[in-house]
Amino acid sequence: MSLRSWLPENIVLAYFLTEKRLETHRANPQDCVRGVAVMSGEMIHPDIRRAQTLPSRFYTDPVEHQRLKGVFKGWQFAAHLAELEANSVLPVDHLEALTGEPVVLVKGENTHCLSNVCTHRGMRLVLEPCTKSTLQCRYHGRTFDLGGKLRHMPEFEQAIGFPSEADHLHQFPLKRWMGLYFTAMADAPPLPWTMLEERLGFLAPEAFTYDPSRDRDHAVEANWMLYVDNYLEGFHIPYVHPELNQALDHAGYETETFEGGVLQIGKAVDGDLMFDLPPGHPDEGQAIAAYYLWLFPNMMFNFYPWGLSVNIVTPVSPTTCRVLYRGYVGQAELASQGAGSVLDTVEDQDQWVIEAVQKSMHSAVYDRGRYSPTREQGVHHFHRMIDRFLS
Ligand code: FES
Ligand SMILES: [Fe+2]
Repeated sequence: MSLRSWLPENIVLAYFLTEKRLETHRANPQDCVRGVAVMSGEMIHPDIRRAQTLPSRFYTDPVEHQRLKGVFKGWQFAAHLAELEANSVLPVDHLEALTGEPVVLVKGENTHCLSNVCTHRGMRLVLEPCTKSTLQCRYHGRTFDLGGKLRHMPEFEQAIGFPSEADHLHQFPLKRWMGLYFTAMADAPPLPWTMLEERLGFLAPEAFTYDPSRDRDHAVEANWMLYVDNYLEGFHIPYVHPELNQALDHAGYETETFEGGVLQIGKAVDGDLMFDLPPGHPDEGQAIAAYYLWLFPNMMFNFYPWGLSVNIVTPVSPTTCRVLYRGYVGQAELASQGAGSVLDTVEDQDQWVIEAVQKSMHSAVYDRGRYSPTREQGVHHFHRMIDRFLS
């Protein structure tokens, strides 16, 4: 990027940020120390018993929304390997919506995540899921192998210094974890893959099948972080989800936080469907109905005895988002029982409450709340991560 294009935009952004901090100071003197607005990294107190929630402007303000765009460039879920068995070449549209980067998963001898932009003049290389042995651009015929290497380009015999490294397709990092593929647009610290696999690997999700009838694409009239906040606590279940509440033991609900995410454990009520945990499992002896795994910032992996429901939250605007559902099935015969049987009902109830909260974020008299130290550890953890990202 040239200095000329960089400078004005950042001066404008700095101006707005300064203005917002002054506004914060005027509206929320409690956020300020000796007249200076509290900067990022200090906004959410590390002690949940003392902490206040994210200020409401984070759920409405285009400037704050823009500042958070970079959080999606770390590890992101791309697809389950069963999707690549159906089509060996798979453009991943939701990743483009999250990061701005068009990418395609390609399964050849190995599996790669490649740029979906032709290195000639930028045509979109793959337009829909398909199975191919090479990738040929439909504009002028440039052809790549399934590893992204340029193999053929018509009418370039006289081009000097061609091909060069820049003529091959860019490869993004790709991580396969329990049959799920993740990619990252920028350097991202590793997630605790091993620790999570010890907990969830007994379900063998790599053997699950993809069930497109479970696909959903919900438009939600709320900031993406309100959706995440709501996901990260089971506190609301007795109030918002009467059907789910019948399957879960509210008193036994647990929340564990770790670097990069949160694991919530829903316990089954007496007699309801639970996991058959193998001997030696860390949770052996407990009646567990569901594992709800959230990975920062927007990925939810809901493990039930029938299989896995994945939710990806994608921001659309400061006050709207989309939530994609994907379903991968292990034991279809268990799908009508327990906590994992009422997903559409639970989603409708969550959206209703989240959209109502969104409207309240514009209130002139509400800015920040407090956390329940026993029930909202996940929300506090998420807000701390957002705070650290902004610092
Ligand atoms: S843009 Fe792909 S071959 Fe020209
Ligand atoms: Fe909910």
